[in-house]
Amino acid sequence: MDEHNTPQRLLILVGSPRRDGNSATLGEAVRAGAEAAGSEATLLYLDDYLQHFLGDCRRCRREDGECSLQDNFRSLLFDHFLPADGVVFCSPVYWYGPSAQMKAFFDRGFCYYAASYPQGASVLARMAGKRIGLVLASEETYPGVGLGIIHQVQEYTRYIEGAFVGVVQGAGNRRGEVRHDPRQPLVEARKLGEHFFTRHYSDYRLATVRKTQVWN
Ligand SMILES: Cc1cc2nc3c(=O)[nH]c(=O)nc-3n(C[C@H](O)[C@H](O)[C@H](O)COP(=O)(O)O)c2cc1C
Repeated sequence: MDEHNTPQRLLILVGSPRRDGNSATLGEAVRAGAEAAGSEATLLYLDDYLQHFLGDCRRCRREDGECSLQDNFRSLLFDHFLPADGVVFCSPVYWYGPSAQMKAFFDRGFCYYAASYPQGASVLARMAGKRIGLVLASEETYPGVGLGIIHQVQEYTRYIEGAFVGVVQGAGNRRGEVRHDPRQPLVEARKLGEHFFTRHYSDYRLATVRKTQVWN
């Protein structure tokens, strides 16, 4: 709940084409945790919204400033992403990077926050300040397998002046196999959802006023 006692809105975006896959399984655990905490959680599959990569905006932007690419990205951005208080990206690790669907989500936003989009400034303002989380599914278990993606999402979050509040990594290859990962990433994913809006977050600057201890 926020300070007005309205539920916080959490958007969970699954970047795998496999709806019964490991990223989706972890995303559902995030959703369950978020709902248990009273948040309003929505889980969407990027495949339902994105059919195109970012184009050359000078060539494909319409006269009225809108994007002419024919898919549902605009609805994803305006109806779900911009109104959300927090977003959890769930992606399989593909070649040590995110899935193309997840990368396209970041890229396609450019069309709407660029100066050449009539409401670009208002889109940028509405991107700001969100809590962001990341959930990764990979076949390999070594800790560095997701570092490239973690770094990218951290930089994205810094750029939008958000807060990168957590990462969960689970291993599996077959659909849903992540359930058997002894590190229990489903438990971690549920906790991420449950504490998403209350989890302690810090990222100090020189001028940060701070106590000498982190936990009371
Ligand atoms: C194109 C492709 C590339 C992949 N690259 C990696 C990789 O670099 N490292 C890894 O650990 N797993 C890799 N995998 C395995 C997936 O990350 C793994 O199967 C994951 O659980 C799939 O998630 P999903 O069920 O949500 O689709 C790759 C899979 C595919 C299809």
